[in-house]
Amino acid sequence: MTARDAHRGESGGLPQDRKVTTHFLQRMKDRGEKICALTAYDHLMGKLLDEAGIDLILVGDSAAMTIQGRHTTVSVTMDQMIYHASVVSSAVERALVVGDMPFMSYHVNPDEALRNAGRMIQEALVEAVKLEGGEKVCPTIRRIVDAGIPVMGHLGLTPQSILKFGTYQVRAREEAEAEALRRDALALQDAGVFGLVIEKVPAALASEVSKLVKVPVIGIGAGAGCDGQILVSHDMLGLYTKFHPRFVRRYAELAETMRAAFGRYAEDVRSGDFPSQEESY
Ligand code: KIV
Repeated sequence: MTARDAHRGESGGLPQDRKVTTHFLQRMKDRGEKICALTAYDHLMGKLLDEAGIDLILVGDSAAMTIQGRHTTVSVTMDQMIYHASVVSSAVERALVVGDMPFMSYHVNPDEALRNAGRMIQEALVEAVKLEGGEKVCPTIRRIVDAGIPVMGHLGLTPQSILKFGTYQVRAREEAEAEALRRDALALQDAGVFGLVIEKVPAALASEVSKLVKVPVIGIGAGAGCDGQILVSHDMLGLYTKFHPRFVRRYAELAETMRAAFGRYAEDVRSGDFPSQEESY
């Protein structure tokens, strides 16, 4: 029995074998069913997440850190994101696949943003795009949505602005910033987003915003009151270990497991134990 079958049996909720669309996610929110989302950057990871019944797979620009080993997300390019998104989307049957629009792919003007969002859809075969920002990006979101491309917003800690903010600290603790976030969420909804990611803000605020807007709100480091949760897969698997934010629950310690396996292999090769006769022709 797969995790997906088990979940279907327990929840009595929406059918778990149905293709996830943006409308499906809206129905999940309306029925109070939690949405589970994770990131993927390669075909195998996309397939495993889909088989486990994950509802939304984000091909995140966190690829800059998890795959490329950079310190921030800003260096990953449009062409690189198209590559990651295309190998993930070709593995996924059920989940909604969302492609992250990288830094500078939607900042110059709405026409260029639409062209890049169109590349995500046509070349990478994702079903939606995500971009960061509030009221300021609304004209861009309208342009993309008007062309028929579903857009997801991203508020709170927006990692593409890290060079400006200079820190990954919790956002919107002060009332002025919290009020701006409420306004941004409503503005994004008005501009036509089908959902929002809210990152690293106080749980009470994220919960309030989840009730304020009609569209699903997916939290990361934003408490349990959101309509769903997302984590970076490499974080929750214990593969990316440079830092361990408090909001990441580790479901495995794969870095340790892999290091040990590589070490055992090296020992076996050096001692002549590998390959054995059974492993030879
Ligand atoms: O790029 C990413 O992985 C993200 C998640 C943190 C939501 O945007």
